[in-house]
Amino acid sequence: MSDTIIAIDGPSGSGKGTISRRVAARLGWRLLDSGALYRLVALGGAARGLDPSDESGHAQVATTLDARFEVNERGGERVLLDGADVTRELRAETTGNMASVVAAMPAVRAALLGRQRAYAEAAGLVADGRDMGTVVFPDAGLKVFLTASADERARRRYNQLKEKGLPANLAGLSQEILERDRRDSARSVAPLRPAADAVVIDSTGCTIEEVVAQVLSLARLRFPVNP
Ligand code: DC
Repeated sequence: MSDTIIAIDGPSGSGKGTISRRVAARLGWRLLDSGALYRLVALGGAARGLDPSDESGHAQVATTLDARFEVNERGGERVLLDGADVTRELRAETTGNMASVVAAMPAVRAALLGRQRAYAEAAGLVADGRDMGTVVFPDAGLKVFLTASADERARRRYNQLKEKGLPANLAGLSQEILERDRRDSARSVAPLRPAADAVVIDSTGCTIEEVVAQVLSLARLRFPVNP
């Protein structure tokens, strides 16, 4: 099935989430939001009172993760963890930062690998993350590495959080984005980097639709699809 996988990797705020969602919708393919899995492990660990540095505890949470991704009445996302609605907390910046810490733990990454690969059992998957093209789906038929300047990413994150009615502070976000980039790129397992065969797209100054169009035209060249 690997030939019908589009891997979209890149740093926080590069627009991967929105772009992956739109590309998947246009192709009628499934979506794997792998960052959400790391976010859920961090939330699950916190709910169980785990120490943030407890690797085996978080790996256990990852192995037994009871997560459901649903669509709410307005067509937006609803995410349930152990049956409880965690949609709002999931997207909070504090959760992203906690996720970046647990994502550096090899046992957590190993525990989530099979769950992520299971998304590709049926044909047609858009996989969004940091290591989709390098580790999880190394044979993906199309690999995109999406980036943008740190300033632009902080601005986008700020707007996204405000739109969701979540608290946001631009200077703080810039700082956190740089720190998260550093942690995600410097870790020893599955660091954030483009796969050797990835197409790098710098979306600084581009609209979401321009980037979506670019990915779809690459998809048209690689796959027998008609988006
Ligand atoms: O894309 P995101 O902001 O939801 O991801 C949250 C954190 O999870 C991010 O800081 C790094 C980590 N992550 C990862 O290490 N590997 C992935 N495939 C996806 C996310």
